[in-house]
Amino acid sequence: MSDRYAVIGNPIGFSKSPFIHGTFAKMTGQDLVYEAIEGPIDGFSGRVDQFRTEGAKGLNITAPFKLDAFAYANELSESARRAGAANCLKFEGDRIIAENFDGIGLVRDITANLGVKMAGRRVLMLGAGGAARGALLPFLRQQPSELVLVNRTLSKAVALAEEFAGCGPLIVSGYAELADLAEGYDVVVNATSASLRGEMPPLPGNVFQGAELAYELAYGKGLTPFLQAARAEGVAKLADGVGMLVEQAAEAFVWWRGVRPSTAQVIAALTVPLS
Ligand code: ATR
Repeated sequence: MSDRYAVIGNPIGFSKSPFIHGTFAKMTGQDLVYEAIEGPIDGFSGRVDQFRTEGAKGLNITAPFKLDAFAYANELSESARRAGAANCLKFEGDRIIAENFDGIGLVRDITANLGVKMAGRRVLMLGAGGAARGALLPFLRQQPSELVLVNRTLSKAVALAEEFAGCGPLIVSGYAELADLAEGYDVVVNATSASLRGEMPPLPGNVFQGAELAYELAYGKGLTPFLQAARAEGVAKLADGVGMLVEQAAEAFVWWRGVRPSTAQVIAALTVPLS
């Protein structure tokens, strides 16, 4: 019988994960089935218990269950522990092992796919929620010269910086103060949820000047206000999170199956042009 995997979320109808993992399985000749599960909002653990009883080998987790999955696991990788959330589980007998590949997926997309170096560069990240938290350690591991974290609610950014103290050159700022700090950033990443509502974080006018890359974590939203502002200030490379989505899936696939799929073809199939 084929090994079983799934993605769980609510809602789940628009998830690209079954397509991505199905394509990876075909490309690498792996015998598996991958389904989409709409988890009950208050019944994550019961639904996952059931899936495990049916012999499942692993699970991807999307909103709103990343914290539930973290709590459900009995072993945590360092990236899951640091992110405080899990986007992937592996089941081995009684072991429920949690991983979080979102941050590494983002870094691989920026450095390998988009060809933008982060080492020695100045990086600006907007947001201090779950998405930003997951990216902090993988970003700092790239050894940027400075990583500036900016958030509307300053206290959240300060709390994150305290948690990651000693991991690298992390600086916190409010949006208004950013104008004084800005000496030019090489990479600007929008890890807020503003674009999901068509909103623009309150960035001062000059932050994109000289930047090589503006990266929007949300995907499939076309030219969001953030990307439009970056384009208007002359940023040459604009990207949304489709590459991150596929790269985190590839990391999960390697972890589960021990085989690395190539990602370019799947990214191309899912890319919605930014115009
Ligand atoms: P996620 O898991 O997607 O990161 P989250 O944990 O709810 O979601 O965090 C959302 C992030 O987007 C927060 O950093 C939030 O800023 P606040 O902490 O000040 O609320 C940020 N955010 C959402 N809408 C925003 C907007 N219009 N402008 C700036 N930041 C925004």
